[in-house]
Amino acid sequence: MTIIITGGAGFIGSNFVYYELQNHPEDRLICLDKLTYAGNLETLEEAQKHENFKFVRADIADRKAVYALFEAEHPDIVVNFAAESHVDRSIENPEIFLQTNIIGTSVLLDACRKYGITRYHQVSTDEVYGDLPLDRPDLFFTEETPLHTSSPYSASKASADLLVMAYHRTYQLPTTISRCSNNYGPYHFPEKLIPLMIINALADKKLPVYGTGENVRDWLYVEDHCAAIDLIIRKGRVGEVYNIGGHNERKNIDVVKTILQALKKPESLIEHVADRKGHDRRYAIDPTKIHDELGWLPATKFEDGIQKTIQWYLDNRDWWQHIISGDYQDYYEKMYGHREKL
Ligand code: NAD
Ligand code: DAU
Repeated sequence: MTIIITGGAGFIGSNFVYYELQNHPEDRLICLDKLTYAGNLETLEEAQKHENFKFVRADIADRKAVYALFEAEHPDIVVNFAAESHVDRSIENPEIFLQTNIIGTSVLLDACRKYGITRYHQVSTDEVYGDLPLDRPDLFFTEETPLHTSSPYSASKASADLLVMAYHRTYQLPTTISRCSNNYGPYHFPEKLIPLMIINALADKKLPVYGTGENVRDWLYVEDHCAAIDLIIRKGRVGEVYNIGGHNERKNIDVVKTILQALKKPESLIEHVADRKGHDRRYAIDPTKIHDELGWLPATKFEDGIQKTIQWYLDNRDWWQHIISGDYQDYYEKMYGHREKL
């Protein structure tokens, strides 16, 4: 079987490449990635050694390039991880989010229609459901929760989901969608909360917590997300949406304190800064459907996953030091340099 993995040079896509190479070495994997600031070929160095792995640099919104790839490779399955993924960047500059996340998805769907595939899988997010109040711990996102987006990022992801559903209904394209909660683990780009806090703490830099830090995220170790997607593309029902999450809700401030404790750094490094605009309060997934239908359960508890992740950043300094020594410096200065302290 031939699988196109778009966005495979990013955080979750690269973890999925390694998951597939390990669990289905008989399949051919083609990673299609534009290599934006978030894509990193160093991450795929080990994968490049496998004869069943191939890397192709292209933009998913480039129709000519995408069609040429489908014509040459005849994929059976397409798993679309490629996206602009950072909420803060979408608040600064929404347009590229619409281009990649919506137009890019539509080009992939058209290619699937034109050349024929057995499955198109859209990697979506729990952010399409909006947020939940902090004082209602009994509420969770199910697959029936209405789409109710907050940021340009989540609006673009919800738009892509709607397109995928439309192509299934109108053209009978065999699609599935997964909506996962916050991932963490190896190869997580340092603009995101957990790697940012680890790296700043190691450098004794301030840890910028937005607002009070009471916002809640539902954390899932990235390998558990990969296992869930693997099950969905092989055994999931066509036309369905599956939520993915493991009841690992944590307040941001508690996540930050856990990291400081593990690294034996003082809490005085924490700095409360101006809140994110439109900041979602709480995400929490109800994973009953994927558990009942496909038998999926997360294997990694947050307490273990966060220690493994911190250790990975300690053992792989070269990987993140290469990133933070480049353009990322300008990004950091722009986002945090003049941010109001609370
Ligand atoms: P990431 O930003 O780390 O990686 C995105 C990858 O996509 C990069 O390799 C980048 O080069 C590539 N890319 C961007 N634009 C492209 C384009 N136009 N054409 C081809 N490649 C392009 O993102 P991530 O955190 O790994 O997220 C992957 C997917 O999972 C996204 O669709 C995201 O919405 C979704 N998701 C992420 C999380 C999370 O916690 N990170 C949770 C749920 C869902
Ligand atoms: O829920 C899934 C989503 O999780 C994915 O769809 C997104 O692609 C992914 O980026 C992630 O979005 P979040 O906005 O939840 O992740 P982020 O790491 O940016 O922020 C997590 C929380 O930490 C959020 O409440 C904002 C807060 N935060 C973040 C940063 C970067 C801070 O307090 N300080 C920071 O510097």
